[in-house]
Formats: sequence, C-alpha cells, structure tokens
Amino acid sequence: MRMLEHRTAKGTGEAVKASYETAWERTRARIDREIATGDSLFSILARMNRLALGDHEVDFWRKQPGVAPLARRVLDAWDVDVDERPSPYIPAVINGRYGVRTAFSPMRYLAERIGDANVVVEFGSGWSANLFQLYLLLGNQRSEGLKYIGAEYTEAGRGGGSVLAAHDGRIDYTAVPFDWTQPDLSFLADLPRPLKVVAFSHHSIEQVERISEKFHPGLRAIADELTVVHFEPVGWQRDAELLERRVADDADYYRRLAHDLGMYPKRVRNAPRSDLDITTVEAQVRGAAWWSFTRRYNINLLEIVDGLRPRDWEVEDVLFDYDSLRNPLNPSTLLTLQAKPKG
Ligand SMILES: C[S@@+](CC[C@H](N)C(=O)[O-])C[C@H]1O[C@@H](n2cnc3c(N)ncnc32)[C@H](O)[C@@H]1O
Repeated sequence: MRMLEHRTAKGTGEAVKASYETAWERTRARIDREIATGDSLFSILARMNRLALGDHEVDFWRKQPGVAPLARRVLDAWDVDVDERPSPYIPAVINGRYGVRTAFSPMRYLAERIGDANVVVEFGSGWSANLFQLYLLLGNQRSEGLKYIGAEYTEAGRGGGSVLAAHDGRIDYTAVPFDWTQPDLSFLADLPRPLKVVAFSHHSIEQVERISEKFHPGLRAIADELTVVHFEPVGWQRDAELLERRVADDADYYRRLAHDLGMYPKRVRNAPRSDLDITTVEAQVRGAAWWSFTRRYNINLLEIVDGLRPRDWEVEDVLFDYDSLRNPLNPSTLLTLQAKPKG
C-alpha cells in the first residue's frame, strides 16, 4: 500500500524473533571462531566492536581553569545545561569547529550503580555483550557473589552468551528466556535472599510496540532492592502529537513528516524541498518518531514510566536523546528508576 511504503515487514513479535534468531546465529558463528583463537573475553569483545566504555574523564574540561571558560561557552552555544547531572556531553572539535560530543558510557553508568547488588540482569540482552562489558569493568573481585543474567527472547542470543561465559570460565552467568509482552520473572524467585537487583534494558524495548505493564510492578514484587535502568530510543514519546499519531497509526501524517525531513518515497522524488531546520531538537524528535513508525517500534515505555506509582518508585535520572550509536534516527534516552522500600 502506498501509504505504508516506508514500513518494513518487521513489527510483529514473530517477525522480530525470526530476524534476531538469524542475526544472532550469524554472530554465534563469529563467536565460535573467536573462541577458537583461545584469546580472552576482553580481546574478543574488542574485535567484535563491543568494548565501548566511554571517556576516561568526562569532567576533564571542568577541572582545567585554562579550558573551562571556553568549554562553557561552547556547551552553552549548543544549549547544553552544564549543571545537568548526569552530564554526558563534552566540548569537542568536529569538522574543524567547536562542537559537542557525547562521552557517555551506559556500562560505566551502570557500574557506578551496582553498589552491593548480587544480581544484575539485562532484559532483551541479545548475546549479552553489555553484561560482558560490565563484567570486565567491575572485574573478578567485585564479580564474586554477583550473578549476571541475560534474559533474552531468542535461543541464538542465549546460546552466544552461554558459550562466551563458558569460555571466560569465571563469570557467574546464566541466560534465560524472556519476552517483554509476557514477562516471566520466575527465574529470580528461587535466588538467595536478600535479592538486590540492578536490572536494565538497552535498545530492546524499542523492538516491541507495547511492552507489558506488569513488568515493573512484577520485578519490584520479587526483588528486595531494585534499580531499573532503561537505555531506549523513546525520547520522541514526550511529544504528545507524535505519540498520538503513532497510537492512531496515522500513516498519512508520518508520510508528510518523512517529506518534511527530506525522505521522500521514490515516486515523489521531485517533491519540493522542505524548509524544516534539520539542526533543531524538533527535527530530531520527528526523525526518531518516523523511524519508530516505520519499524513499529515501542510506543508505551514513557507512558508506563509516567504511570509508576510515586509511593513505589522514584524516577532518578532522565536524559533524553543523549546519543545515537550508529543511527541518528534512533537516539537513546536514559531512564533510571529506583524502587522504594516495600512495606
Ligand atoms: C537491538 S538488539 C539489542 C541487544 C542488546 N540489548 C544490546 O544492546 O546489544 C534487540 C534485542 O531485543 C530482543 N527482543 C526483541 N523482541 C523482544 C521481546 N518481545 N522480548 C524480549 N526481547 C526481545 C532481540 O532478540 C534482541 O536481542
């Protein structure tokens, strides 16, 4: 259908599962080749481009009297609130000019929140590249008594994580099946008490149009102490109109929006150029919403977080659209939720 021509076949749970089974099977073949070299987990992750632990000193510019005044001016010119915490941005030179870049590392951020947790679980973990990075960062000493759990939809993803963990030989790692639409958290129920959990998701909820509203309360009910961190491309959901049009599946609206962004379906290639200023937050947020529309990506995470009961949860950090990994149309947003003590 003409209106849906930007849309891929992706979107339904089964299609997403099939495409990730295929993708992770290919990755599994690579993992097997890497393991055969006999090299350490460290080298394997680095060669597979999954060792991204951020800048060593994000605050360098603040501590340097000779740098700070100019750095502040540069950040200010890019509307960065220098007092915002966590502040992931640093002044930089880009293409010969002063600019700003993101120096944030999700795993470094998580490592700082591990505290005395005894379980860390990634939901929608793929082959658990994030958990392995966190493990390398925390080290074997801190990892004593810390369970790493990769809760993943696909068998191929779980298999990749399991063979890498066995290759390392020291990490206490388990891969378990998990589906955001029917969250089964029973794998946590039999673990020793008190259960102090740091749970996170990284670009996995994105894949699921509506996750179950039972996830957060269910996790809180099982854990004795709980922090939940989401790194997900849902920042555009704060724009009421973009969200309303997604919920209504308004293809005409999103076709016009694609046009404004300069992305025309082939047959209207000669359509007039849009005058939308591509450097604005407005343009970026529309791009992200459009991308989400084409993939039938998530539409309910912000709504769920907004609806969490204030007496059960504190929303600790929110950082909209802080980084975009490989794809500028799919930028990450950080949401950190702290479960309040029960009873
Ligand atoms: C883009 S990958 C991200 C993997 C991993 N979080 C990372 O950052 O490397 C998306 C992951 O979400 C998983 N996924 C897709 N649909 C899911 C669902 N309904 N429930 C749980 N996980 C799902 C996929 O199998 C895949 O592993």
